[in-house]
Parts: sequence; C-alpha cells; structure tokens
Amino acid sequence: MNRHEFIDMARENIAHVEAGNTPSQSDDVYRVPVANYLDPARWQREVNLFRRLPLMLALGGELREPGSYKAMTVMETPVLMTRGSDGAISAFVNSCSHRGAVVVPDGSGVARRFACPYHNWTYNGSGELVGVTDREFFGDIDIACLGLTPLPCAERAGLVFVVLTPGTPIDIDDYLCGYDQLLDYFGFGDWQLISQKSIEGPNWKVAYDGYLDFYHLPFLHRATFGTEISNKPIYRAWGPHQRMTSPDPRLLALRDVPEDEWDLDVMCGGVWTIFPHISFAGNHSGGLVSQLFPGTSPGSSTTIQSYFVADEPTEAERTDAEHRAAFFEMVVRTEDYYTGIRLQRALAAAAKSEVLFGRNEGGGQLFHQLLDRYLDEDANGTS
Ligand code: FES
Repeated sequence: MNRHEFIDMARENIAHVEAGNTPSQSDDVYRVPVANYLDPARWQREVNLFRRLPLMLALGGELREPGSYKAMTVMETPVLMTRGSDGAISAFVNSCSHRGAVVVPDGSGVARRFACPYHNWTYNGSGELVGVTDREFFGDIDIACLGLTPLPCAERAGLVFVVLTPGTPIDIDDYLCGYDQLLDYFGFGDWQLISQKSIEGPNWKVAYDGYLDFYHLPFLHRATFGTEISNKPIYRAWGPHQRMTSPDPRLLALRDVPEDEWDLDVMCGGVWTIFPHISFAGNHSGGLVSQLFPGTSPGSSTTIQSYFVADEPTEAERTDAEHRAAFFEMVVRTEDYYTGIRLQRALAAAAKSEVLFGRNEGGGQLFHQLLDRYLDEDANGTS
C-alpha cells in the first residue's frame, strides 16, 4: 500500500484549496469526433479491445471463501469465476463441453460441483469434467480434455481481473502500473455486497465520460447531491487508470498534523477508475462500484452497479446501505443515463462534427487519447 502517494495527493489537493478552489488543467481544449460515438466499425474495434484487456469482473469479497463462485454474462460471454481450496481464483467460459449450454446460471454462491442443466454433465471448481451422464452409452471420449475452457485471470488488491478471450497473455502488474498499491488500501477482498443492479445506458463512452466528469455536478445533479462537492476536478493517472478528486476544505486540518500521522481515511475519497470500464466512488468503509460494458450496438451499454460495505453490517447499517444504493441507482438512471441516452440521439442528428473536452476536463481527455492509442496498437498489431 502506497501511503506516500496518498500523502502526495492530499498535499496537491490542499494546494488547490489554498489557491481558491482551482481544478487541474491540461494544456488545451481537446476535440473528439462525434463519429467516435456512432461509427459501427469503430465500435466493433472497441468491443474487440474489451475482449483482449483485463476486465475487473468481481471483487474478491464476492468470492471470499474457498469453493465460492460467481457466474455472470459479460458482453454475451458467459463467465464463471471460482475460488479454489488454495484460495486462488480461476475463470472459465461458462459453456458445457458437450453441446455448449450455459452450465451455471448468473449468480454467486458456494459449490463443489456444477451440473449442466441440459444433460447433467458435471464439472468441479477447477473446471474439470468429473461426470458424464450414461457414460457407458455415450461413446469414447477423453474427459481429461473436456473441461471448461479457462480464461486468463488474476487477482490484485482484492479485485478479480479476467480476459474474455481464451489464451490471451495477461500481465496484470504491467497493466495496473502500480495503481493496485493504492487500491489495496480499500480491502476490496473482504467487502460485502449489499446491492447489485443492471442499468441500460447510452454508448459506453458517453456513459464513461460522465464518470470522469465533475464539471457537471452542480447542474445535472442539482436536485440530488451535486452541490455538496466542488466541481473543480483534480486528476491523477497511473497508466490509463485515473483517480479524480476535487478541492476538499476538510483536508486543511491536516496542515496542523505531522504528515506521518495523516489519516488515510480522510485522504482516500473521490472517484477511482480502472480503464476501460470501472468506476469506484467511496472510501474505506464501502461504496459504489460501476462496471460498464458496451451493449449490443454503438448506442447502448450495460452498467452493473453494485454497492458494498467493508464490514459485516448490522441490520440498521444494511438498511442504510440499501437506501444509499437505491439513491445512486436513481441518480444514474434518471439523471446521468437519462441525459446520456438523449445526448446520444442528439449526436446522431449530425449537427456537430466534434465534442469538446475543456482544459478542466483532463480526465476525459486522457481517456479518449489512450483509447485511441490502444485502438491504433490493435490496428498496427503492436499491442
Ligand atoms: Fe451440457 Fe449436454 S450441453 S450436458
């Protein structure tokens, strides 16, 4: 866990407060072609990118104990994640080796065996085929070669990363660029799931732009929470991953305390994103995790919005967390994605050729620049 960098970010935040509530600013206004949000060919390249990058599909806390599992459908790929008796995470394409049925319905739990609902072939948590119905009548097959197809996966900072394309090399430490040393502070591996919802939204970049945007808070979210925090963002990046805060006057009190006594709990807030599709908003005691995925067309996306708490909640704490989860779901559905879906339609009216990201919207600028760079690498075969 990188305490030094937390302190450095708090120092930077205090400087922005002292300067009069200023945002970080990039060098220039950045222009993104409207076609980037609409073009089916580009969208397909983005989908292909999603299929080769490590995607954060679960908090370790969702598969805490040996023998636990989580099954989910990601961009139409059924994925099964399991935690073995040694504590290690495995991931598989959740498709039966017999004739392809989805073996485990979406959900989570603890199980030693997974029986396919179609003809009852059975797999263990390591994905091995361990049972073939009426095997004496089935014919000659080598069950050792008929396990579930493994997917590359890794766990860092209590977060489970999976690549959707079998056989794709995964270098998770290279990908995270040390960001996991910050994320490690939150203890995601022990968090408890309170609520999980699926929300349909606009083009995934329209949706993701919003997660990197504080500029809009006092306007779009005027009626909910948008006037409670500054809309002057401060960005910091680790490779393609970004944290966003804003000048926080409460941090001024730290100036009276030696830095080695600064409380991490007051320095860890804001929005933490993991490229290309994760946003976490919260602190050490829990928060909102949003997993964005492209939908089935350039104009659609799916967000899995989950609310977690760090410690086993009392009944009152659970009720309170459920209310907060419902509040955030309402905000995203009726404010962010309500606006984003209409924005998406308006872009298609072809009135403009570009959209603008101001000097005070550096997070969005970096996101689009890096996405273009990844797509160029794919096109050039240099990834
Ligand atoms: Fe799974 Fe037949 S498809 S047992």
